[in-house]
Amino acid sequence: MELYFRSMALYPRLIAPILFRQDPEDVHHWVSAWMHTVGETALGRTTLKTLFAPPKVKGLDQQLMGIHFAHPIGMAAGFDKDAQVYKALDALGFSFVEIGTLTPKPQEGNPQPRLFRLKEDGALINRMGFNNQGLDRAVERLRSKGQRVIGGNIGKNKITPNEEAVQDYLLGFHALKQYVDYFTVNVSSPNTPGLRALQDKAPLLQLLSTLQEANQKEKKSLPILLKIAPDMEEGQLNDIVEVVQKTALAGVVATNTTIARDGLHTQADHIAAIGAGGLSGKPVKNRSTQVVKYLREALGPEPVIIGVGGIFNGRDVIEKLVAGANLVQVYTGFIYEGPAMVKRCLEEMTHGLQSGHWAFTNRRV
Ligand code: FNR
Repeated sequence: MELYFRSMALYPRLIAPILFRQDPEDVHHWVSAWMHTVGETALGRTTLKTLFAPPKVKGLDQQLMGIHFAHPIGMAAGFDKDAQVYKALDALGFSFVEIGTLTPKPQEGNPQPRLFRLKEDGALINRMGFNNQGLDRAVERLRSKGQRVIGGNIGKNKITPNEEAVQDYLLGFHALKQYVDYFTVNVSSPNTPGLRALQDKAPLLQLLSTLQEANQKEKKSLPILLKIAPDMEEGQLNDIVEVVQKTALAGVVATNTTIARDGLHTQADHIAAIGAGGLSGKPVKNRSTQVVKYLREALGPEPVIIGVGGIFNGRDVIEKLVAGANLVQVYTGFIYEGPAMVKRCLEEMTHGLQSGHWAFTNRRV
């Protein structure tokens, strides 16, 4: 037993400190290339499952939006932008993976460096700018998705003006509709100039109504969710609630990264030197939980809420569920905690729930 717990701590204690001496984006590329290779072979996937996948946990599975989720923990958008490593992530125990953000045409994103670690804060700052290989490449890779649960996170190309953005989202919808289980409309990345203006009531209503109209014409319509920023005032959140209700969206993903820099332990001059970008990880945790709570109260029980932001352990997952989320996603926590993260979170959750330390009642079957 002790050996088992030691091996679970191997990554944060031994491997992460070595990886964290290298450039964050280089590490992401190496790890993704390795995960792609391992994830594409049956032997590789079995090895990952044997080492890291959690056992089936009774009572944490649920049927939502017509999809079966084995447990509430998924991988957030941005880690597998091009649908290259979702098989490895599935083998590591994630119950769903959100690929993207994908734009119709491939694009380079912003100049490097554009990804920074704030180790003292358990955080990252990124201004990647939707670097991705475009819809066509992702579609090729999704053909062998099998029974895995995949969300398609769609956005617009940088060169597409906001007035024509709807066309880009429609292209994303039509290209991916055969392959994904749900869609997330991303209008909340701080790293594409002007994108967040699409969160305003009028353009958002137009965008989502058009997408829903296209969706309703399909033989089988798919759940569409909206991903929002954590930096919204109450008035803006009320607008989001109104638009979600008017367009009968399946739900909301809350939240993306923040442009705020409050309460950080990292030295201010270092933060200033990094410059613009979205902050993720522990510093965004409470704000994203507040947004989840606000939305649940305003939206009522029906729409699905996926809580994202600063989840590192089982307690953080429960916190989001108690606030009103049905599911959660992680990104930054996975970078710091490593491949055994899902297994550990689920063990902590089961232990916490069984011992009566934690309780949550929003579960829907
Ligand atoms: C992201 N995130 C993100 N979100 C999105 O909708 N589309 C994207 O392409 C990306 N890209 C991306 C890149 C990097 C490097 C990071 C760190 C994050 C945001 C992500 O999905 C999540 O919403 C936030 O990071 C908050 O969750 P965590 O990281 O605190 O668990």
